[in-house]
Amino acid sequence: MNLGYKNIIDEFNNYAFEKIPIYLKKIPNRYFEAIEYTLKAGGKRIRPLIIFFAGKMFSIDKKLLFDIGIALETLHTASLIHDDLPAIDDDDFRRGVPTCHKVFGEDIAILAGDGLIFLAFEILSKLSVSPEVKETLIKEFSELGGLSGMVRGEVKDVLMTGGTFSLGEVIEMYEDKTGALFGFAFEAGAICALEHTKAKQLKEIGKNFGVAFQIFDDIKDVTGDFKKIGKTPGKDEKQNKPTVVKLLGLENAKELAEDYYSKSMTSLKNFDESEDLIDFLNVIKSLLIER
Ligand code: IPE
Ligand code: IPE
Ligand code: MG
Ligand code: MG
Ligand code: MG
Repeated sequence: MNLGYKNIIDEFNNYAFEKIPIYLKKIPNRYFEAIEYTLKAGGKRIRPLIIFFAGKMFSIDKKLLFDIGIALETLHTASLIHDDLPAIDDDDFRRGVPTCHKVFGEDIAILAGDGLIFLAFEILSKLSVSPEVKETLIKEFSELGGLSGMVRGEVKDVLMTGGTFSLGEVIEMYEDKTGALFGFAFEAGAICALEHTKAKQLKEIGKNFGVAFQIFDDIKDVTGDFKKIGKTPGKDEKQNKPTVVKLLGLENAKELAEDYYSKSMTSLKNFDESEDLIDFLNVIKSLLIER
């Protein structure tokens, strides 16, 4: 993977891997290894970098943005560990290596996901910010990560698998399972600046970007190979997953993803100093298209 953002990704990773062990004290070695294994397997770190570039628009301190980035990346990683379990998507590979449950067993994998979710909240609860900022961050994070966002979306995905559904229902499910965490990434910096109106607007932009991201991911499930996507391709069709590609076919799905992507970029351009974030998202998008 070459995002061209190696320095900042390295900086984030170094910061995160120094910080995370501070929280993981007195836990059994094997459990520590399971958490470390998936976190270090080489995710693209797209969400923490969005928090960084979106937060820069409001001149928020880099370390604070990195700490919020660690929280979101640990929640995202937990969602992947659980998403890959035999009872959900039953995937053997993630981030180019065998999935957490394949290496450590289902019991430890379930608990690794649980632990990472709580770790995310612990990190947010210990941020050095005003009570108002902390409260808003935690409120948004819990809604977007949980029952008004990612978890709700995963539930819809599971319940829709193998059934019939409309395009509107699939898009709503994507807004939840993938859009919600991007919504949080886009709005976190504005929340730190107590710019509530802008935070709301950025959250919506992030959700649209997330829908585009998920459609591109579905397309890659059909057109990508293992080396490029780091997970087994062809899984969605095999498992009769509710995807936009299944409903519309590849070409129309791509067009719809482009529409969601353009919509989010057009709205972002209205924000001062959004150039760096837009440049980063453009790189992500070209990576999603070509990989
Ligand atoms: C994968 O997200 C899950 C989806 C929402 C499609 P990423 O493609 O950002 O996964 P990592 O973190 O780089 O592994
Ligand atoms: C999104 O959907 C995953 C989560 C919200 C956890 P997918 O099931 O399509 O993601 P991949 O393809 O396994 O990464
Ligand atoms: Mg899934
Ligand atoms: Mg999956
Ligand atoms: Mg997928």
